[in-house]
Amino acid sequence: MSASATSNPKPGRPFWVGTSWKMNGLPDDARRYAERIAAVDDWHGIRPFVMPPFTVLADVARLLHGSAVQVGGQNMHWDESGSWTGEISAPMLRQCGATMVELGHSERRRHFGETDETVNWKIHAALRHGLTPLVCIGETQAERDGNVADLILARQVRLALHGLTAAQAGRVMFAYEPVWAIGEAGRPAPPELVAQAAAGIRQELDRAAGAPGVSPPLLYGGSVNLENAAPYAALADIDGLFVGRAAWTAEGYATLARTASRTLAAPRPEP
Ligand code: PGA
Repeated sequence: MSASATSNPKPGRPFWVGTSWKMNGLPDDARRYAERIAAVDDWHGIRPFVMPPFTVLADVARLLHGSAVQVGGQNMHWDESGSWTGEISAPMLRQCGATMVELGHSERRRHFGETDETVNWKIHAALRHGLTPLVCIGETQAERDGNVADLILARQVRLALHGLTAAQAGRVMFAYEPVWAIGEAGRPAPPELVAQAAAGIRQELDRAAGAPGVSPPLLYGGSVNLENAAPYAALADIDGLFVGRAAWTAEGYATLARTASRTLAAPRPEP
């Protein structure tokens, strides 16, 4: 093995580190956060993105314009306009400066009735309007206990990509987020479990993309923090980290991105 070999088992594939602020971020805090990360001049090969609430999205996108950091919405409607009180459309997100949109997060599936079908409609709409969808999938504890986690994940991927061409499927990003690992009550998933689930998801993605090696990026999320970021980042089928609480400060976010980049650059142990 050459001395320059790294532990990144996916050379040539970009590695993403992103955060959704969920329902956090008043204008002053959002501005400070955006200014701090706009000042980062080297992300060390990481592709960074932030997903702030709609109310500060345009501000954050303006402050990050010209930086490496992409900005996304946390949800959107499948229609372009119309009588959909309280909703936001893909063209609205684009106008605010977003290039990405998170879809199907478990909090939206659980509390706001989001389904695989509506997520699929939203993916079609996002792609039509030039937004990169980041689709969250994950099994509940009961589904894992009942031995159907792999089936659930395959179903979520297939229904998400329903009706897309292989080329379109290649423009969709996924985040594997076990529902039981997310948020205050979440328990971080053992990396071996994530590796096994991610390998199954990767097979589905390869099938949808029509060939191995060109399938969509697969991120991992759920209680990711400074202690566990490195083992997740090192997993063969994981192309990024999608972080909540640990990245709700600019410092927390930048440090996590740095940790991920160090993991990918670390020399592999000699066989
Ligand atoms: P968490 O959130 O990192 O706070 O668990 C992750 C997510 O919901 O994507």
